[in-house]
Amino acid sequence: MDTRTLGSQGLQVSALGLGCMGMSQAFGPRPPRDEMITFLRSAVDRGVTLFDTAEVYGPFHNEELVGEALQPVRDDVVIATKFGFAYDEDGHQTGVTSRPDHIRAAVDGSLRRLRTDTIDLLYQHRVDPDVPIEDVAGTVKELIEAGKVRRFGMSEAGVGTIRRAHAVQPVTALQSEYSLFWREPEDAILPALAELGIGFVPFSPLGRGFLTGQVTAESRFGEGDIRSSLPRFEQEALQANLALVDRVRDVGERRGATVGQVALAWLLAQQPWIVPIPGTRRLERLDENLGAADLELTAEDLAELDSASTEVQVVGDRYPEAMQRMIDR
Ligand SMILES: NC(=O)c1ccc[n+]([C@@H]2O[C@H](COP(=O)([O-])OP(=O)(O)OC[C@H]3O[C@@H](n4cnc5c(N)ncnc54)[C@H](OP(=O)(O)O)[C@@H]3O)[C@@H](O)[C@H]2O)c1
Repeated sequence: MDTRTLGSQGLQVSALGLGCMGMSQAFGPRPPRDEMITFLRSAVDRGVTLFDTAEVYGPFHNEELVGEALQPVRDDVVIATKFGFAYDEDGHQTGVTSRPDHIRAAVDGSLRRLRTDTIDLLYQHRVDPDVPIEDVAGTVKELIEAGKVRRFGMSEAGVGTIRRAHAVQPVTALQSEYSLFWREPEDAILPALAELGIGFVPFSPLGRGFLTGQVTAESRFGEGDIRSSLPRFEQEALQANLALVDRVRDVGERRGATVGQVALAWLLAQQPWIVPIPGTRRLERLDENLGAADLELTAEDLAELDSASTEVQVVGDRYPEAMQRMIDR
């Protein structure tokens, strides 16, 4: 697979990474651990070098899984993880926090679970409105100087916060939601990243499975599936939003590609410094998704996708109220 560069410090990664969250939470029951370890190693064999995890996925389970799976190939891969949440005694997430002492302790925990002595890319998962971002960036800078972290990233941060952080410690990548289903980053975020030389890692690049054509009007999302609480997956919204999938499918049919491949190729075509991290737990889907790296959309394809996503007004918010409040703007 082709490689891409994130950030002006030059972090080289595969053009498509692998989102690991679903192996521990968000899309129903956890698959068996040994299957996921084999799966993660198969992704390495297929040329994936960027693996995305976070302390909060599980919590803690996902970092342990990724750490165990990638230990034998540690030097050949880039592991990205995230801090920024607090937990109660039972390990349940209780809200955002980025106090410096908390960041330092979180990094020590991540290093232990990931079975490594340095984190390649460390993101602040959500901006903490109670801690000046300069203090957060300064703490990560110290961790970089100490060798525990290689590079700094942010997630769902607004332009003003990114600029302030970047002035203290250069930011390598921003990770925020971006897809044909959610194009808000185009307004202010992407121009700012281009100006500052910061890479972009779109999360939920398949719209949490919506942009694969596998979600239908009949789909029901059970307990433990985050989509059961997301407004745009509610029955009526879903029905309306499927019009977008139909338009993406039209392009795919012309190009001999699946809906998901077109959705990922569209992201890759936006900028050479964009590296999507689709999440899956199935080998045949991983192969399908990685096929997007070889799909070069034409100007005509891109224009058609652009008008499809402008003409089909996506119905329903992307997050429920409580999750939306954690987004920095
Ligand atoms: N920074 C943040 O705040 C944040 C937030 C959300 C996610 N993330 C990161 O971004 C990664 C990806 O995002 P995401 O998992 O939310 O959404 P996504 O990658 O857009 O979609 C994942 C969903 O699509 C399904 N899927 C994947 N490939 C498929 C295919 N070819 N055909 C049919 N279905 C397919 C997966 O099911 P199966 O697994 O069953 O295949 C899963 O249900 C996560 O793993 C996580 O690392 C970060």
